[in-house]
Amino acid sequence: MEKVRETIGIQKPLLVEETKEEEVSFRRLVKGIPSTTHATFALYRYPAKFIPQVVAYVLGEYAHPGMTIFDPFAGYGTVGVVSKVYGYDYELWDLNPLLEVLHAVAVMEPKEINVNSLLLQMDTFHGEFIPKWSNLDYWFPQEFLPLLFKAWGFYHSVEEAWLKLLLVIPLLKTTRYFSYDDMQRQKLSRSPKADNRVNSLLASKWQDLFYRKLEENINSTFRGTREYWKLSPKVVRAIVKGGVDTLSTGLDEERDILITSPPYLQAQEYIRQAKMDLFWLGYPEAKIKELNKQEIPYRSVAPCPILSKTYVQLVEQIEESRLRVTFERYFWGVLGALTRLQEKVSSYLFLFVGPATLRAKPIPIDRIFAEHFTSLGWVHEVTLRDKIVARRMFFYHNNPATGLNDQRMRTESLVVLRRQM
Ligand SMILES: C[S@@+](CC[C@H](N)C(=O)[O-])C[C@H]1O[C@@H](n2cnc3c(N)ncnc32)[C@H](O)[C@@H]1O
Repeated sequence: MEKVRETIGIQKPLLVEETKEEEVSFRRLVKGIPSTTHATFALYRYPAKFIPQVVAYVLGEYAHPGMTIFDPFAGYGTVGVVSKVYGYDYELWDLNPLLEVLHAVAVMEPKEINVNSLLLQMDTFHGEFIPKWSNLDYWFPQEFLPLLFKAWGFYHSVEEAWLKLLLVIPLLKTTRYFSYDDMQRQKLSRSPKADNRVNSLLASKWQDLFYRKLEENINSTFRGTREYWKLSPKVVRAIVKGGVDTLSTGLDEERDILITSPPYLQAQEYIRQAKMDLFWLGYPEAKIKELNKQEIPYRSVAPCPILSKTYVQLVEQIEESRLRVTFERYFWGVLGALTRLQEKVSSYLFLFVGPATLRAKPIPIDRIFAEHFTSLGWVHEVTLRDKIVARRMFFYHNNPATGLNDQRMRTESLVVLRRQM
């Protein structure tokens, strides 16, 4: 533990007891991680990814040797990537199956390889993989498809697991670059800007460019894994499950610490964002549709008691029924799942949330969470507030539920709850 603290130096924030809230900068508190994109913490732009410093702060301050760490909405898997550095066993779940592959890349051991000869093998490969996607022609110009089919055919033919891991993120990123997706937007969508990108690719020597991009991306995966290895990740027990519906899944074993960033009230559609990747990885359309339907908060969810005064007051003020349904489903979904899961968490809950708005009215999700778990007997130690600097979020200009213009979330909060002895 001390050794880790030396690598990832942590400074204590001042605690303002009366309000139980503290403004912090996790980036500054954790000295040993030079940037949010260091090592393998950001090999892939997963929406609303944890910055590694949040997890490092929690583990450095609150975890003890032998503890186990659990994230039921793990996304990219940052909680696991950091837990391994600190030497803690961990368990990760996410509805998005990408979790398994992204996490495996992020913790893989670096190996040297001749990238040019690998790309030559790909270029001369005689097989193809065609994703079973009815909308393929809408997302890719015909011209690029044979090259993409060959590249992915090569990927799916590779037998060495580590080589597949090395290739997968570079291929996903390069494939997206060659698609009509507007990558600046937070979900899969076409735009005139993306059409322009594809048109200028078509007018260039795009085959060469495809391999150059792939090479760049492979090199940055190499760089990242080498940097990660310098953080001395430990051999730990890891359970990583993608495709899991957290709302209907139970923990098999007790865990000491739950740290998670649940889906945001007006920030969802992770599966819609990921589906292009999932198709190329070989997921069938029916499976992707099924996953899509399980996302919070547009699915129907069984009601559950929300033990928060703030919540009750807010629900009463929402007159439009459609809006109330979205609001209720969100809390029933997230808090229903976390309430069930906390029964098997022995020490701490760390809930990382952003202050959302509904009809331009602020919704203090952090306070609702703190009130709810306090009513269940947890001790609210503190809420740490950090400014959002570069975390990738879904921002709708208009909230899909209300049609109104939403404010951006500017701060995020880490709600720290301790189990009462
Ligand atoms: C804010 S993100 C978590 C990001 C994560 N902390 C990271 O570092 O990448 C919320 C996650 O909740 C997941 N999610 C949404 N609905 C879910 C469900 N029903 N079951 C499990 N995960 C779900 C999304 O796929 C998304 O990855």
